[in-house]
Amino acid sequence: MNKIIVAIDGFSSCGKSTMAKELAHEVGYIYVDSGAMYRAVSLFCIQNGWITDSGINRDELEKNIASIQIEFKPNAEGNSETYLNGQNVEKEIRSLEVANGASRVSTFGFVRSELVRQQQLMGEKKGIVMDGRDIGTVVFPAAELKIFLTASPEIRAQRRLDEMKAKGEIANYEEVLANVKERDERDQNRAESPLRKADDAVVIDNSYLTREEQNNLLRTLFNERTFL
Ligand code: DC
Repeated sequence: MNKIIVAIDGFSSCGKSTMAKELAHEVGYIYVDSGAMYRAVSLFCIQNGWITDSGINRDELEKNIASIQIEFKPNAEGNSETYLNGQNVEKEIRSLEVANGASRVSTFGFVRSELVRQQQLMGEKKGIVMDGRDIGTVVFPAAELKIFLTASPEIRAQRRLDEMKAKGEIANYEEVLANVKERDERDQNRAESPLRKADDAVVIDNSYLTREEQNNLLRTLFNERTFL
């Protein structure tokens, strides 16, 4: 069976990572969460005091971008976790503060070009499932299978809220919904690589799909592309 590249793009909180991870696990491919890389850059800025309410210290980030080393290593259960300069930051990068910073640092061209370069290296040998915002349009424009995953903002906000509650975090639906919409707006309207569907991507709206239905659909598409 020939190895392919699977690019999964879409809005935040659509379940891209879950979908990508499950496919990678099932078919024995590498899984890369490109959003985790933007989140790691955001965390690095927060740790250095470069993100404040009044903005981001772009100059310091640009000067130090080469000193940010991001890696993925499997944990004891075989799930990939994110490391920033040798430290496991998988938990820290999932906070709302880091997510908001990620949405901001991802608007800088110099951040994008560095992370895209690293992502392309990871996919050199194919056999990879990567999820993000620009995977099918910029990182791997020749990917054999491109998915554009979407769901309504209200459904995504509810899913995010359920996830936060399960972790014991206190949150309010209106606040989470506003945050989802704010990030959508920024992801779609930034000058650098805005989120958009690649012309040859398959759109999956999972607002009313079960996880099983979604995975079956993805697996069918994957089989079609690998048996070509
Ligand atoms: O998918 P996520 O929520 O973990 O992504 C965090 C932020 O990073 C999000 O605001 C969009 C940005 N991002 C990006 O610009 N390009 C990617 N390939 C992945 C994420």
